[in-house]
Amino acid sequence: MKIVSDRHEFQRELQHHRAKGKTVGFVPTMGFLHDGHASLMRRAREECDIVAASIFVNPLQFGANEDLAKYPRDREGDTRTLEESGVDLVLWPNDPSGMLDGGSGFNIQVGSIGEKLCGRTRPGHFDGVATIVAKLFNLAGPCKAYFGRKDAQQLVIIERLAEGFDFPIEVVGCPTVREPDGLAMSSRNSYLGSEERQAALCLSRALSAGQAAIQAGETLGSRVAEIMSEQVESEPLARLDYAACVDPESLDDLSTISGEALLAVAAFIGQARLIDNLTVTR
Ligand code: PAF
Repeated sequence: MKIVSDRHEFQRELQHHRAKGKTVGFVPTMGFLHDGHASLMRRAREECDIVAASIFVNPLQFGANEDLAKYPRDREGDTRTLEESGVDLVLWPNDPSGMLDGGSGFNIQVGSIGEKLCGRTRPGHFDGVATIVAKLFNLAGPCKAYFGRKDAQQLVIIERLAEGFDFPIEVVGCPTVREPDGLAMSSRNSYLGSEERQAALCLSRALSAGQAAIQAGETLGSRVAEIMSEQVESEPLARLDYAACVDPESLDDLSTISGEALLAVAAFIGQARLIDNLTVTR
């Protein structure tokens, strides 16, 4: 496995592999890797000749009161996970400056799709995600790029970015990886103390309750959202951000559930803001 800090070296390496007829799989991350990330890398390993990854904690996607400074980092553990997952090439910049706007002085603005769900409490977050992902896509070049479905809104936005701007990238959404008790894996789970870790199960419980209601015949989106909210609000250590039942493409609230519904929930548990979601078909 080769680790490079220079983004242009990363770009050249991948160009060189493609010139030799190799296909490329790319897994962008912010590090502090867990089995969810490893599952993306293993999938890329199965489907592509060369597996590339990036580790960059992107300042553009953190709000002023968010956890940029204390976002968890683990160089040794991440190196081990990358190696064990069969990654060939890693972009791991030392200096964030070259990774931001490249001196352009502007960012991508994703508009209304970025203002729904998580965007309500994280204004500008998805502009920051889209900006860095566009940059990473340009550096990686033609490839398959792998993202987890836990970040459902991020995935919708990245799919639109890739399609809308004709990036030569196939975006591949991959299943959420969960702990045995149902908690969705997240780097931010490391913020949880043991009682909070237990309390965090209210997110997956809320999704299961929403799913059960739909399976039992509930067709009102607002009622399903209410059932999910009640689950989170019944947990004393949790503070609900939102619980929503939305169209999986537009992310608009569903008044009536007829086909697919995306159930999405976000809550603060201690210092951690956690998200989870489930797609349910009626
Ligand atoms: O999902 C993440 O880890 C990040 O949002 C991403 C896609 C690597 C962009 O910084």
